Amino acid sequence: MTSPRLRLAIPEDAEALRAIYAPVVRDTAISFEYEVPERVEIARRVQATLTRAPWLVACDASGRVLGYAYGGRYRERVAYDWLVETSVYIAAEARGRGVGRQLYVALLAALTQQGHRRAIAGVTLPNEASVAFHTSFGFEACGVVQRAGWKHGAWHDVGFYERALSDELGAPEPLRSTDDLFADPDFQALLDTPS
Ligand SMILES: CC(C)(COP(=O)(O)OP(=O)(O)OC[C@H]1O[C@@H](n2cnc3c(N)ncnc32)[C@H](O)[C@@H]1OP(=O)(O)O)[C@@H](O)C(=O)NCCC(=O)NCCS
Repeated sequence: MTSPRLRLAIPEDAEALRAIYAPVVRDTAISFEYEVPERVEIARRVQATLTRAPWLVACDASGRVLGYAYGGRYRERVAYDWLVETSVYIAAEARGRGVGRQLYVALLAALTQQGHRRAIAGVTLPNEASVAFHTSFGFEACGVVQRAGWKHGAWHDVGFYERALSDELGAPEPLRSTDDLFADPDFQALLDTPS
């Protein structure tokens, strides 16, 4: 298989993103949403995310979306601005082939370029694949919220995993705008770099 191509998501990807996300919402507690969001809502989320951080998709040679990963606000309060929450979803038939790894390598590098200092991921437990995936990127467990959510007739724990994006300890610069980041040749280069 040739290596998937990475690019920024566009609102027109919403149907393809929905096809990947829908079974996760419907059949698992990996996502705490109860209802599969409509296409227009997913398009809105893509647009909103892209105003603050990258949302990347991986496509096969025919342009079909195999998976996606994005950075989101961990919390609204301003002091949290340099802590970014990362999410990744790969189509069931494309898992275990390195697509998630390729997306995360690029996403974490892009978030670092943007000026984020730390990444955090919340994982509904158990999720062996996601825990192993995040651990393989150097994320470390930093706590478990027990019975964090009720879905499909049961309580679910959520484990949080954190990873430094920078060794800098001093005061951070304001985050680069996504317009500035996406126009940077270094950002474009990391989308084109096979992992
Ligand atoms: C977790 C997920 C994103 C991994 O993506 P993927 O493309 O299948 O993963 P990759 O093939 O790139 O694997 C990268 C590493 O992750 C780990 N990994 C991935 N799948 C794994 C599995 N089923 N069991 C154990 N480790 C696994 C391995 O360390 C692997 O490295 P290796 O190939 O050198 O062994 C994917 O399984 C998925 O989309 N799951 C459903 C949604 C989900 O759980 N998202 C995360 C929400 S927190």
